[in-house]
Amino acid sequence: MAGIVVVGAQWGDEGKGKAVDILGARVDYVVRYSGGNNAGHTLVVGDEKYALHLLPSGILNENAIPVIGNGVVIDLDVLFQEIDGLTARGLDVSNLLISANAHIITGYHQIIDKVTERFLGKHKIGTTGRGIGPAYSDKVNRIGIRVQDLLDESILRQKVSAALEQKNQLLLKLYNRAAISADAISENLLSYVERLRPMVTDTSRVLNQALDAGKIVLFEGAQAHHLDVDHGTYPYVTSSNPVAAGACIGAGVGPRRIDRAIGIFKAYTTRVGEGPFPTELKDEAGEKLRADGGEYGTTTGRPRRCGWFDALVVEAACMVNGFTDTFCTKLDVLTGWEKIPICVAYDINGERTNQLPMTQTDFHHAVPVYEFLDGWSEDISTARSFADLPRNAQAYIRRLEELIGVRISGIGVGADREETVVIHDLL
Ligand code: GDP
Ligand code: IMO
Ligand code: MG
Repeated sequence: MAGIVVVGAQWGDEGKGKAVDILGARVDYVVRYSGGNNAGHTLVVGDEKYALHLLPSGILNENAIPVIGNGVVIDLDVLFQEIDGLTARGLDVSNLLISANAHIITGYHQIIDKVTERFLGKHKIGTTGRGIGPAYSDKVNRIGIRVQDLLDESILRQKVSAALEQKNQLLLKLYNRAAISADAISENLLSYVERLRPMVTDTSRVLNQALDAGKIVLFEGAQAHHLDVDHGTYPYVTSSNPVAAGACIGAGVGPRRIDRAIGIFKAYTTRVGEGPFPTELKDEAGEKLRADGGEYGTTTGRPRRCGWFDALVVEAACMVNGFTDTFCTKLDVLTGWEKIPICVAYDINGERTNQLPMTQTDFHHAVPVYEFLDGWSEDISTARSFADLPRNAQAYIRRLEELIGVRISGIGVGADREETVVIHDLL
């Protein structure tokens, strides 16, 4: 076992951070390979709570070397705030490695993200406003700023000026906003150079050498399958590839390096931002799930939209990512319901299907077909093995497993690191 990737199987916030933290104690490297500080991964260790946005969740484990891969977009203000915050809490973050090829999110990316959303009005995506889309657009457009550019001041200044020549036209003429000073942007970025320099390296080579030496590398997904720009509910997606294959591109390792792919999903479903969500509950049931699950965004604090488990959503993620295992989190949140609906099919214009529809139009018309499973009322937070769970909770898990077609190897029964049922070892 050498390369393991953890991927969200729904629309994000499945509890990937907790899963990575649990595994982190036994791995040598933990690597973020996509996204940026749109991610919010919450970890609970006893009385301590950590919210990470850019640093890999493995950072809480001393033995795992944290890595930010080339596929990540980095806001340096956020990165160093996060590093300083953890250092102040007594954690050692000094072994962090950052890819020279990772792209930088600058102030103008954030401004453009926000004004674009405002311009879209009712068609907005509901982004996190962190500049993610504009930074990835610049990368693909070949006008992005990379970490390595900061190591050469004249190159950096040239690139920032060239990018702003276009963007200031856009801001002034289309959006009626003030122009942004290239010098101010460059100065801000350059203020981090001395701290950044020792962390910057060819992380692809480091990781390949580690894998050659038999080390265990954990690739930590951010966002999720259905937010993937290729495989998600486009255009209501993020601008990167959170899927398992994205780990190869975003960390610079070949596909044969990934031995295990673990899909993380909630025992129900949530989504932040706009976009289709067939099992969404807009009634008291949805409010109860939100309250019981504490479903408020780690990054933006927005209330998450809540709904029942949708087997079609998770099954599609299992297929595209080739999950070898899955991990079902937040089963404890469902305690106390007499009956728990799960979506097993969609009715689309009178036709029933158990596969995600091919088109956005059909997805918009999908009406969930529910099966009702018996609930349980016992507190399950102290369960540590499958046998500790009440019979109906076991039956719930077994039914989900049957519907998604991949084994469930772990179950979350509480936010704490310890509150986990292990069925199959994930390493
Ligand atoms: P991520 O973005 O996938 O890492 O997930 P988030 O951290 O954004 O959201 C998951 C939330 O659920 C966090 O507040 C976690 O502390 C919490 N959590 C994770 N697993 C469980 C679980 O099994 N039960 C409960 N009750 N909370 C959990
Ligand atoms: P983690 O890693 C949930 C959503 C946003 C928005 C869309 C595009 O914590 O699971 P962006 O700012 O990326 O351009 O926004 O994607 N989104 C997330 N939703 N969890 C996340 O990350 C998310 N990252 C982005 O709400 O709908
Ligand atoms: Mg999150």
